[in-house]
Amino acid sequence: MAQSDSPEWARLNRAHWDEKVPVHVASEFYDLAPLRAGEGRLYPIEEAELPRIASAGWHGLRVLHLQCHFGADSLVLAQRGATVVGLDFSMPAVRQARALATELGLDDRSRFICADLYDARHALPEPESFDVVYTTWGTIGWLPDIVEWARIIAWFLKPGGRLYFADGHPAAFVFDDPRADEPGADEPAALLDGGPARFPAPRFGYFEREPLALDEPGDYADPDAELAHSRTVEWMHPLGETLTALVDAGLGIDFVSEHDAVPWQMFSVLEPRGDGLWGWPGTSWLPLGMSLGATRRAD
Ligand SMILES: C[S@@+](CC[C@H](N)C(=O)[O-])C[C@H]1O[C@@H](n2cnc3c(N)ncnc32)[C@H](O)[C@@H]1O
Repeated sequence: MAQSDSPEWARLNRAHWDEKVPVHVASEFYDLAPLRAGEGRLYPIEEAELPRIASAGWHGLRVLHLQCHFGADSLVLAQRGATVVGLDFSMPAVRQARALATELGLDDRSRFICADLYDARHALPEPESFDVVYTTWGTIGWLPDIVEWARIIAWFLKPGGRLYFADGHPAAFVFDDPRADEPGADEPAALLDGGPARFPAPRFGYFEREPLALDEPGDYADPDAELAHSRTVEWMHPLGETLTALVDAGLGIDFVSEHDAVPWQMFSVLEPRGDGLWGWPGTSWLPLGMSLGATRRAD
């Protein structure tokens, strides 16, 4: 799809992500030192669960990484022996991914394609050619159509091929930090186990179908960043709809996990756990993240 033909949501979101790429590459959040040392790591949630997806290791597996950003996770899997195709609609992200692959000597095991997810079948006309589709942390909220997302995944997977998906939990996406102008915003929250931080406030309906028009100049990887392209369009996807879309597209669900931690400071009350994840200061009131494994059925 030519950029001028793109819907407004895609243009806004792409400009936002294009601007984020250099911020992220320069950030401590995306620490590329282990990758550069040949020992790239994923977050503990994926590290714990991926043996269920690639039980015999990554050598020889063909992996499609959807919404790969600037390729850091794609190249971790390539370092482990997979052949990875990363797809993202941000050209700066794809350029950065290609440069990183060259720097790491992984050009022969990685390819990065610039395309909107919904154009993936045209950008990469290789049906049933992947052993694994991998997509994690900050993905489907940028996509309007979860049914088509699931069909695209199914189209690329070989029969018996696996999906690994991890993201924020849709129940947590109902909430946001309390706004400064809300009544009582400067008072400690009674609900929290000590400390002055306030519990996040409900902001978005779990079953909301309309796009959410947001305007947030900050960035999860760099709290000091002030993005010029701060307007974005995002979507809520209830968990049941995501699971059903995958089943209807031809995948069998192998496992679904809920997590009380995520790899970014989703709410200001969250605290770093010391392993790259952020969790609740006391009681785990709500799941913050979720992940699943699924297998493409042969039928
Ligand atoms: C939060 S990042 C992905 C997270 C990845 N785990 C990371 O942190 O490196 C989201 C990515 O989705 C991409 N993206 C958003 N909407 C897209 C779309 N419609 N098609 C393809 N890529 C999209 C953005 O360019 C961005 O690189």
